[in-house]
Amino acid sequence: MKPSECIAILDFGSQYSHLIARRVRENHVYSEIFPPAVEPQQLRDAGARGIILSGGPSSVYQPGAPRCDPAIFELDIPVLGICYGMQLACLLLGGDVKPGAAREFGRVRVNVTRPEGVLAHLAGETTVWMSHGDVVTHAGEQFISLASTPNSPVAAVRHVSRPVFGVQFHPEVTHTPRGDQIIRNFVYEICGCAGDWKVGSVIDSTIDDIRRQVGPNARVICGLSGGVDSSVVAALIHRAIGDRLICIFVDNGVLRRNESELVAATFRDHFGMQLRIADASQRFLAALAGVTDPQEKRRIIGREFIEVFREQAARIDGARFLAQGTIYPDVIESGHGPTGHAAVIKSHHNVGGLPEQLGFELVEPLRLLFKDEVRLLGEALGLPEEIVWRHPFPGPGLAVRIMGDVTPRRLEILRAADDAVLEEIKAAGWYRRVAQGFAVLVPTSSVGVMGDDRTFEDQHLIIVRLVETSDFMTADWVHIDPEILSRISTRIINEVPGVNRVAYDISSKPPATIEWQ
Ligand code: XMP
Repeated sequence: MKPSECIAILDFGSQYSHLIARRVRENHVYSEIFPPAVEPQQLRDAGARGIILSGGPSSVYQPGAPRCDPAIFELDIPVLGICYGMQLACLLLGGDVKPGAAREFGRVRVNVTRPEGVLAHLAGETTVWMSHGDVVTHAGEQFISLASTPNSPVAAVRHVSRPVFGVQFHPEVTHTPRGDQIIRNFVYEICGCAGDWKVGSVIDSTIDDIRRQVGPNARVICGLSGGVDSSVVAALIHRAIGDRLICIFVDNGVLRRNESELVAATFRDHFGMQLRIADASQRFLAALAGVTDPQEKRRIIGREFIEVFREQAARIDGARFLAQGTIYPDVIESGHGPTGHAAVIKSHHNVGGLPEQLGFELVEPLRLLFKDEVRLLGEALGLPEEIVWRHPFPGPGLAVRIMGDVTPRRLEILRAADDAVLEEIKAAGWYRRVAQGFAVLVPTSSVGVMGDDRTFEDQHLIIVRLVETSDFMTADWVHIDPEILSRISTRIINEVPGVNRVAYDISSKPPATIEWQ
């Protein structure tokens, strides 16, 4: 699926490297992340039209600090160094980098003395986001300074004769309001990219890749979870090889209401795919009976899943491949991204170890895409909105949303309450503004009155959890209109027998987590 033009990002360990790649792709230019020591020839082979050197936590002058091959400055491919990347370019080409008098962190006004190159179209003073301790004290003979701040005498540079630029600040973060202009200056005006990359345009080449990998006869198995990644994988592979794709959906008994019905309606009825639904709920619930420890619940569900999946897969003749919904952040985080060889198995697909045990080869058509791109691809493939924009749902399902042991009655209560939460936030137009929303069941009786009776025995507390987050590493509770909470509460209390109290979780992550277990 590799497009003809690409911006290569050399990752020096910045937490923002993903963001640089996303910003470039948002401008319709494909970008890919490489390790700092990548061979210059590899960048040429990747079709690099520009190279961005990322920020990083090290100091360029320290022994062992990551460096790139200085030959990349002689490839005649434009280079933009960001923060550490700029300092490294200056150091390698004759400038000086030293610890600054003070750390410069946060929003800073920068004085643009020469609005040219990457700083073209910017005003004389502009706000940028800084996060650095070292500064370029002297740009050297080969660079001209384009901007400064009180703390950074050299806040941006351009090379005197080559297309090499640097900025001390971070154009990739939204706190740099004109950051996108800087990225566009680089990719369009300096690198001359055409900007014709769209996620939908990779469909045909991805389908060709799948056909080439799988060959004319073999079958592919795909574990469908109903989540967006596995759904998009299934839709792509189905387009490539039709009925030679066999999807397996395991009903583990701890799914949300109507989950297997939605999957059957979408994939079997709408797309006409070969779908096998394995109803293993009794088996999972029997294994979970009496178990209260969350990690034990996860372990049991993971183990049973592998067994059920293995039994199902063994019934499919000629299956040589297993499809995986691995996406780019998983590949980058595994540390193997740039080499392109990592076989990353998503633990939350609960199929860890399966490919090796069953001798499968992996098909991973999403391994170079970000989550939002996967959703766009899903839309382009005609998947329904209900699947494409689904909130993530953990592999161990409702089992980790029931505090205590998992019983059929508790599951019934939680399903009904969860359904009310989701229906109400959808009806109020909040579903897409919430990253993840759900109900949690706490089997703690609290006293209540219903009609003329006091209720206490066998009543449950339902917690409503709605979070917003961009990366699921940190999250905040959603400051939702209280009117919607009120509707959720009324519905749950009225419609779900066994619940006499509803509470809203107003804790952030950290220190809380998104799930309750
Ligand atoms: P936490 O609770 O760690 O959740 O803040 C972060 C994200 O991970 C999901 N999650 C899981 N997903 N298996 C999964 O597949 C799990 O055991 C699991 N635990 C948490 C959670 O739903 C959220 O999206």
